[in-house]
Amino acid sequence: MQRGKGMKFVGDSRIKANNRMVNQPKDYSEYPGKTEAFWPDFLLKEWMVGAVFLIGYLLLTVAHPSPLEGPADPTNASYIPLPDWYFLFLYQLLKYTYASGPYNIIGAIVVPGLAIGALILMPFLDKGPERRPSKRPIPTALMILAVAAMFYLTWESVVNHDWEAAKAQGAITDKHLGLLPDVEIDETAPGYEIYQAQASCVGCHGGDLAGAGGPMLLGNELTAEEVAEVIQNGRGGMPAGAFQGTDEELQQLAEFIAGLKEAE
Ligand code: HEC
Repeated sequence: MQRGKGMKFVGDSRIKANNRMVNQPKDYSEYPGKTEAFWPDFLLKEWMVGAVFLIGYLLLTVAHPSPLEGPADPTNASYIPLPDWYFLFLYQLLKYTYASGPYNIIGAIVVPGLAIGALILMPFLDKGPERRPSKRPIPTALMILAVAAMFYLTWESVVNHDWEAAKAQGAITDKHLGLLPDVEIDETAPGYEIYQAQASCVGCHGGDLAGAGGPMLLGNELTAEEVAEVIQNGRGGMPAGAFQGTDEELQQLAEFIAGLKEAE
């Protein structure tokens, strides 16, 4: 007879109870057909679904290549950046009076923080055993409200965005392609210094004079008088009175810009 057979040892706290088997999976044998082996059955299904999505995304990226813009230009202050579509609702939120400007903290931190915080706290707030949405009216209503708000804000931002202007501001130009006219810029000329000191000119025509929001000044066909005239009176999209300085500086600037002619 084996020692201790049929006998239970009890109550010795120095001995660790290691027969609790915490990680033992539950026995599902009483639900035939509702369970399956992880390997290979379940994994194979997962893999097949993954492959369908992967190929789907590959085809999508081939059919709709991502819309590339010209490289970012830190001197172009007029560029209006736009987040990707899935963040448009947050972007739109920041356009409302009480979520922007002095109330920025409400639109940027408080509202999104409340929403994310509620999601994180959901398991602690909503502890009912019911799983059916109709039996959990408050969380269901809040979720529907959140999804509806996201749809509405996304829609608002799409219809209110100036897509034509966005396309123009991001266009890939000759400048980006390295096809600038062959113009020698005399960086020691007084007019060059004056130009660089005019933040407004640089903002629209670029620190390299190759254009930003406004057109490129390299290879222009104007005389110094015509340049001075454009600067003083403005023209088309160019405002009058952008120049800050003396008449003499204006003259030097005009001569410098008129000198930006393409080499023969
Ligand atoms: C708000 C943007 C903006 C600012 C600021 C601005 N420009 Fe312009 N500029 C333009 C636009 C747009 C045009 C084209 C106007 C047109 O199509 O008639 C232009 C045209 C010009 C032209 C004529 C170019 C050509 O080839 O005909 C010159 C020269 C010029 N700008 C110089 C300047 C200078 C110098 C300053 C600073 C004092 C300046 N601009 C400030 C937007 C701007």
